[in-house]
Amino acid sequence: MANESRERARPLDPRYLAVAVEAALAAGCLQLQYFRRDLQIQKKGVIDLVTEADLAVEKDIRARIERHFPSHLFLGEEGAQPATDSGSPFRWIVDPIDGTTNFVHGLPLFCVSIALQIEGRVELGVVYSPVADELFTAERGEGARLNGARMRVTREASMIDALLVTGFPPQASHKHGEQVAIFAEFLSRARAVRRLGSAALDLAYVAAGRFDAFWERSLHAWDVAAGTLMVEEAGGKVTSFGGDSFDPFGDQLLASNGALHSQLVDILGDVRRRLTGSE
Ligand code: IPD
Ligand code: CA
Ligand code: CA
Repeated sequence: MANESRERARPLDPRYLAVAVEAALAAGCLQLQYFRRDLQIQKKGVIDLVTEADLAVEKDIRARIERHFPSHLFLGEEGAQPATDSGSPFRWIVDPIDGTTNFVHGLPLFCVSIALQIEGRVELGVVYSPVADELFTAERGEGARLNGARMRVTREASMIDALLVTGFPPQASHKHGEQVAIFAEFLSRARAVRRLGSAALDLAYVAAGRFDAFWERSLHAWDVAAGTLMVEEAGGKVTSFGGDSFDPFGDQLLASNGALHSQLVDILGDVRRRLTGSE
C-alpha cells in the first residue's frame, strides 16, 4: 500500500519532469565542458568554492525553466531569488554543481540536482551525474528511477553489514567535533563509512541501493530536495537525526533504507548524549 505521505491528489503535469530532465542533461553537458579545464574559482568561505562553471550551469538551468514556466519561482545555490515574488505555488530548487570541491580537483563525483516544490512540498526530483551518465528521477507517488529502471533501497537490517556515507559541510567547522565522533562510532559499528563529497549523489545512491544510509548536518535545500524524495520513493526513510519529520530547510538529515533507521537514530542519539554529558 502506498505510504500516505507519498500520495498525490492529482498526477503531475508531465511537462515538469520533461523540463527538469532536459535541464539536467544540458547541465551535465555544460559541466563536462568545464571539467578538468582551467577554471576561475572564487571562495564563498574559507573552504567553500564557487567556479565559473557553477554560475554558467545555474544560469542555463534557470533560463530553460523560465522559458517554459515564466511564473514559477526559482531558488538556486548561486543566484539571488527574483526581486518580485510572483506568489506562484511552484518553486524550482537547484544545485548547479553538487560536489564543487571534487569538480575543482578533477574528481568525477559531482552532479546537478533539480527539484520542484509545489505548495511547499517537493513533488519531483532529478539528479544527473554526467561522468557516469546516470540520470536519477523521482516523482511523488510514482517511484524513483535510474536511467528509466525502477530503483529500490536495500533490505539490509544488520548494521555490521551496512555501507554508510556521510559528509562534512564546509560552513560548519564548529560542528566537526560532533561529526567526527559520530563518524568514529559508525566506523566501528558498520562495514564501512564513505565520504563522497556530493550530498545529492549520496542520496541518489541510497535510493539506488548502493549505500544503506546517509547522514549529514547543515546541508541546504538545494543539496537535498531532489535526493530525499528519491530515497522515499525508492522505499527508504528520511528524518532528522532524532527520527522526527524531515525539513529540507532544517539542519539534520538522516536517510536510510528504512530497515536500519531506528538503529541509526539510537546510535546518533547515544553519541550526541555522550558528547553533551546528558546521559
Ligand atoms: C556540498 C556537497 C558536500 C556536502 C556539503 C555541500 P556543493 O555541496 O554536497 O557533499 O558535504 O555540505 O555544501 O558546495 O558542492 O554544492
Ligand atoms: Ca551542494
Ligand atoms: Ca553547488
